[in-house]
Amino acid sequence: MEVSPSSAPNILGSLAARAAAFLWPVKEKPCYPFLSRMAASGRSFDAMLGNILGVGVGASVNHAHAAVQVINFYLDDEQEQERRHIIQLTRNDDVQSTELLRGYVREAMRLRPQFSGLWRQAASDTEIPQGPGLPPIQVKAGDRIWSNFRNAHMNPIEFPNPAAVDPRRPASIYNLNGAGFHNCPGTTYAQQTIAEIVKVVFKLKNIRRAPGDAGKLVGFSEMIRGSEAQYYVTRNGAVSSWPGSLHLVYDE
Ligand code: HEM
Repeated sequence: MEVSPSSAPNILGSLAARAAAFLWPVKEKPCYPFLSRMAASGRSFDAMLGNILGVGVGASVNHAHAAVQVINFYLDDEQEQERRHIIQLTRNDDVQSTELLRGYVREAMRLRPQFSGLWRQAASDTEIPQGPGLPPIQVKAGDRIWSNFRNAHMNPIEFPNPAAVDPRRPASIYNLNGAGFHNCPGTTYAQQTIAEIVKVVFKLKNIRRAPGDAGKLVGFSEMIRGSEAQYYVTRNGAVSSWPGSLHLVYDE
């Protein structure tokens, strides 16, 4: 086995860093008060690390992925009418326009969710209600369950005319980022900040996709576990559920 210089232990660098930290200790870093409060909670190292990674991943890649899906959705030709309305709304600052923009974000997240669902393993026997018109599901301890958010948000009882974009549906009917004990703590934050991102992007004059493949999230969709899932082709030709770049252009 060959050890490349980048993976070999950097003994000199490590000694220099320790010496520098001893001679010029860093007393102030923005993260110090946060880390001190975490440490004071007395939780195990694993639990603290899990929390930090959970928030870090949710607030960065999940957020970016969801935002790009929303923008991409409203750039599609099929959404021309909605795009025109969004562009009009970006010029306003009143409560009603902001709420409508957030409604558009929720609708894009419903119809083009970041992921179509997640796996869970039942800890005990239970019954899962499925809402009006559907029988409850009996679950046994140890069962693996695929909770399909995408299909749940296409139920015509809660979402009449489910394939249509309607930014006026009540916010309370969505569970886009999970539900219950493990519900995502970033749900409101994500919806509100993505609406602000949409506002900045669609306010740009004559905003449109860049010509050719650069202006597309190149990929394909497949039916997986009962619903459509998006896959993307990355710059090096691999397939990923995480999109690559999407270039937009505008006039000055
Ligand atoms: C739009 C972007 C986001 C999506 C689509 C998303 C989606 C999800 C989903 C599906 C879950 C699992 C919920 C469940 O088990 O029922 C989750 C959990 C979580 N999310 Fe998000 N999330 C997003 C943004 C964020 C942001 C911005 C943060 C941080 C501020 C965040 C932090 C977390 C954490 C810490 C958990 C774990 C909660 C727990 O297990 O108790 N997420 N998210």
